[in-house]
Amino acid sequence: MQTVSDLPEIDFGAADYLAAPLPVLADYAARFKLGRSRRGVEIFDYDLCRDTILSRSFGTGHPRLMQVLGLPEGPALAYKRNSISFHDRGETRRRLRVPLTRLMGPEGSERFRTDIRHVVQQTFAEIPRDRPVDLITALCDRIPSRVYCYWIDAPMADAEFVSRTSHIVQQVHTRDPQTTQEVVAGFERLLDYVDDRVAAARKAPGDSLLSDLIRATDAGHLTEDELRNWIVKLAEANTDNSSHQIAIAVIELASRPDVWAALGADPSLVPQALREVMRYHPRSLSTSRETLEDVVLDGVLIPKGQAVFPNIGAAHWNPNFFPDPERFDIHRPDRPAHLNFGGGIFSCIGRYAVTIEIEEVITHMVTHHPGLRLTASAFSHSPMFTSVSRLEAVLDG
Ligand code: HEM
Repeated sequence: MQTVSDLPEIDFGAADYLAAPLPVLADYAARFKLGRSRRGVEIFDYDLCRDTILSRSFGTGHPRLMQVLGLPEGPALAYKRNSISFHDRGETRRRLRVPLTRLMGPEGSERFRTDIRHVVQQTFAEIPRDRPVDLITALCDRIPSRVYCYWIDAPMADAEFVSRTSHIVQQVHTRDPQTTQEVVAGFERLLDYVDDRVAAARKAPGDSLLSDLIRATDAGHLTEDELRNWIVKLAEANTDNSSHQIAIAVIELASRPDVWAALGADPSLVPQALREVMRYHPRSLSTSRETLEDVVLDGVLIPKGQAVFPNIGAAHWNPNFFPDPERFDIHRPDRPAHLNFGGGIFSCIGRYAVTIEIEEVITHMVTHHPGLRLTASAFSHSPMFTSVSRLEAVLDG
């Protein structure tokens, strides 16, 4: 039987990967189902990725990530240890997720749509229309952080702090210990902020997501500490990922005039266009797991405790599952599903809410700014993420 050391070695620092990661991942996927990189075992095959994401033999990769970063004892590590991310399959993980999956499932999230639309309209009203604007700060960061403020009943003015801090703490996924100090300070500020917001919502309960979670806590479904950890987790996971995925969607759609015009003519195509954006250029190029026992994958023995990365980018560009993967086609069938939000008991809690956010942003843009002109855009890619480092446009180009 083969072992991990027999696997082909992948270098995510190679110039060809950095220049055009998805074609390079497609090439790996065409040749290998599995590989190894500096961070661990890489899974390139769509079925194996999905199976690994769902399998009971794989648990959370977060504790190892904190070790790699060398997070010191203190409030940030204590938060991480007690948050959802550190819990493997089992009763605690299931119990912790229930109130959130109820409130933020497809129907729960749908009730945010009107307010999300309002946030989108308000945000566009503040953007000059006749000159190039940095849409990362003016739009992509503002939408999810303002929606978060609405969820926790905070003044919209707090959105800038929320988005800045989310970008800082999400640096954990760089696996770079040089970021640790900044990340720890970011978490400490976020913890203090959330304590203040929970105290304020307790004094004046309303119909916000936070008030709903406080009621779930008072009913005994969460402890006070678990409530606080969830509100921190929603800030941590929310703005950074959502901002980049909004920016990716704007670039991929607005840079294709025929697609942009088709969406303007028929906005009901927006949801399927976004599915294709998330397949073609996902924010999540991989997710992480760790083997809970010895596992055999495609004839390779993966020992217990091994870091494993279902490579979502490679899976999405596998021609056996997505014919002509380099072709951007908003009319692809919706199966197989994209893996941008992971899956199973670890799946993204915010996937329905953020999908609504991006739908509302794109629908607003194609209907109010059909002549939008991109003036500058740039991506950067790590093994974990697609990021947008530049996005400028004239709304009424
Ligand atoms: C487009 C934006 C987003 C992307 C691409 C994204 C992607 C992901 C992925 C890949 C995972 C790991 C899933 C797995 O390994 O199976 C995840 C987990 C998670 N996401 Fe998201 N996410 C996004 C936005 C959000 C938002 C808006 C929220 C909250 C409001 C959120 C909350 C979470 C939470 C709490 C988890 C951890 C779930 C758990 O461990 O049980 N995410 N997300």
